[in-house]
Amino acid sequence: MIAAEFLCIFIVLFTIFILGRAEVYIVTVEGEPIISYRGGDNGFEATAVESDEKIDTTSELVTSYARHLEKKHDMLLGLLFERDTYKKLYSYKHLINGFAVHITPDQAEILQRAPGVKSVERDWKVRRLTTHTPEFLGLPTGVWPTGGGFDRAGEDIVIGFVDSGIYPHHPSFGSHHTDPYGPVPKYRGKCEVDPDTKRSFCNGKIIGAQHFAEAAIAARAFNPAVDFASPLDGDGHGSHTAAIAAGNNGIPVRMHGHEFGRASGMAPRARIAVYKALYRLFGGFVADVVAAIDQAVHDGVDILSLSVGPNSPPATTKTTFLNPFDVTLLAAVKAGVFVAQAAGNGGPFPKTLVSYSPWITTVAAAIDDRRYKNHLNLGNGKILAGIGLSPATHGNRTFTLVAANDVLLDSSVMKYSASDCQRPEVLNKNLVEGNILLCGYSFNFVTGTASIKKVSETAKSLGAAGFVLAVENVSPGTKFDPVPVGIPGILITDVTKSMDLVDYYNTSTTRDWTGRVKSFKGTGTIGDGLMPILHKSAPQVALFSARGPNIKDFSFQDADLLKPDILAPGSLIWAAWSPNGTDEANFVGEGFALISGTSMAAPHIAGIAALVKQKHPYWSPAAIKSALMTTTTKLDRASRPLQAQQYSETEAMKLVTATPFDYGSGHVNPRAALDPGLIFDAGLIRLLINLFDLSCLAPIYFLTSPNLFSDRLRGLLGILVHDSRHRHSRDKKLHKPTLQLLNGPPV
Ligand SMILES: *[C@@H]1O[C@H](CO)[C@@H](O)[C@H](O)[C@H]1NC(C)=O
Ligand SMILES: *[C@@H]1O[C@H](CO)[C@@H](O)[C@H](O)[C@H]1NC(C)=O
Ligand SMILES: *[C@@H]1O[C@H](CO)[C@@H](O)[C@H](O)[C@H]1NC(C)=O
Repeated sequence: MIAAEFLCIFIVLFTIFILGRAEVYIVTVEGEPIISYRGGDNGFEATAVESDEKIDTTSELVTSYARHLEKKHDMLLGLLFERDTYKKLYSYKHLINGFAVHITPDQAEILQRAPGVKSVERDWKVRRLTTHTPEFLGLPTGVWPTGGGFDRAGEDIVIGFVDSGIYPHHPSFGSHHTDPYGPVPKYRGKCEVDPDTKRSFCNGKIIGAQHFAEAAIAARAFNPAVDFASPLDGDGHGSHTAAIAAGNNGIPVRMHGHEFGRASGMAPRARIAVYKALYRLFGGFVADVVAAIDQAVHDGVDILSLSVGPNSPPATTKTTFLNPFDVTLLAAVKAGVFVAQAAGNGGPFPKTLVSYSPWITTVAAAIDDRRYKNHLNLGNGKILAGIGLSPATHGNRTFTLVAANDVLLDSSVMKYSASDCQRPEVLNKNLVEGNILLCGYSFNFVTGTASIKKVSETAKSLGAAGFVLAVENVSPGTKFDPVPVGIPGILITDVTKSMDLVDYYNTSTTRDWTGRVKSFKGTGTIGDGLMPILHKSAPQVALFSARGPNIKDFSFQDADLLKPDILAPGSLIWAAWSPNGTDEANFVGEGFALISGTSMAAPHIAGIAALVKQKHPYWSPAAIKSALMTTTTKLDRASRPLQAQQYSETEAMKLVTATPFDYGSGHVNPRAALDPGLIFDAGLIRLLINLFDLSCLAPIYFLTSPNLFSDRLRGLLGILVHDSRHRHSRDKKLHKPTLQLLNGPPV
């Protein structure tokens, strides 16, 4: 009895021990995925097609080969491991042949040595890389009319979003006020049903909606209460990126009773296919993202928008291009899907890109021409510039300034810091009402535990006429963005100006010997910050936009491949937001958000690519990429060379002349991209040449193990090697060289 109990405890402990150490691994095995299978395996017929055809994923041929691959994955695992010591999360069959599995490192080693296994990589994490822009890009006048107007722009093109999901009830995604959407026969994605409302996520505009969380669940990072086991956007990011690329046209951006113009996607008639694989706080896991991409391509999307990148170069793959994520994307491109990926937000420092491969269009972020400015007028005549996306204080009146620390209700019980104005209940309403409340910008704002939204709510609930948030010390490189607020409010970001304010306040405020205020005499007014100012010195490369050179491996050696590819607007972009999102403190519960990131730049390119694809339905992804890249501009609105934001020696911000490491080929020009004249349909052959050059520059990797090329590269890229041999030039319009060289090792 005792022994049995002991054994039980032992087993339980042992299981916990094993599970505790278990991690998600992405495994690729021998044998072609559906996309490149040319027959020969157990009598299964070929599933691969010529590059300009689409695979019919519903055919008996494809589904039976898919079942066959999945059975082989299960058999391999069943042969190697005891039942219940592992959990297979996904079988990847379409773009790569492999699976994601939750196992211990010891089991991973066994798997690595097993015959037929090509690679075993520990899963790694990815993160989100966080509307006026259609006019800035010349879409309404220059581009949409050629496609039949905004109500046809992007018609029947399906854009897949691998992101944090969607808020389906947003007007940017509604289908009530538009021409009815017909079916898109080529697209076969599923629509999950909302577990709460029991309604489908799809409405014609949204044409597919699925979520992928097996790896997040296995890693115990998934919390259904806030992450939602459905395509519902628990963040806001996914709704934002989908609206930038394909949101409806003319949607009024209303917040706090003010309309900030009208928003539109780049291709407002394009369809949205949602593949949720990113979650709040932790981001996502590559195993889920790969499953999402595999499904998206299987379902038949035309374009993939990826505002997601790895937290760091994949540690276990020798070259950045050959990790399972990038290889999956290569197969997606081979299947005819154009892929736009955010460059990353690690700028302005070199080698910060998180999008590596030649087959992907890597998008850097630009500041467009719209800037918001505001100012605070003090009673002593000084005018302090600041950031405040707010209405002005009322009429010609001036208002008394009261500092939060001087209007505390009971200064002896101070559980919370009062000066950052996050809690109205610690302040004396009688002293604040009708006055301008002065607050301090503490470190809590940087960490996200304090927000400008809360300051404005505090000021409003106390009946204040407005608020001022003074930055008195700042870590170098801190970036301040305007936050839309409902009452007059301004952030004084310049430390010396904040000092001017504090000095003025101190000298005009009289105190008794205990320091208590006897009378407040300082006054001020806050200007109107709602009207944007349009600048000619645009576009500029945004400070945060990741910079080249591209790296080829974990040791950060240079890759011989220019990245990023193209620059698109990505700074302070207005677009749809999910009221269910909780990560961005300033936009909790709101229907729109004004945010920045290469995350916002990538969907601009995805949407413009949809317009190009609509006009030129038979162009390959490489042709679309070429059209976009050969028609860019390297000049700003004032016809000067593009500039880039950089840090000066003192870590203040300065402007320098931008280089291709900042902007790639230059800033996107949609009108020209629709009519590029010459296109380089370099296609896969060019990609391979790039890889080949790269491999020559990486002699260590390939020389030390010449068979790696045939084993690993041919294995991973086998599709390409086959392709260059079997290609018979059906497409006479475009010259596609064949490359026999690639059938043998390059060294
Ligand atoms: C503000 O003052 C000017 C000049 O004193 C006056 O003409 C104007 O009507 C005033 N505006 C308001 C809103 O009181
Ligand atoms: C303003 O006055 C307060 C209270 O007397 C004092 O703590 C603070 O140091 C003063 N600030 C400046 C900048 O003089
Ligand atoms: C998402 O937000 C909407 C609007 O605030 C709300 O009605 C709905 O209940 C929320 N859904 C969940 C699952 O929290």
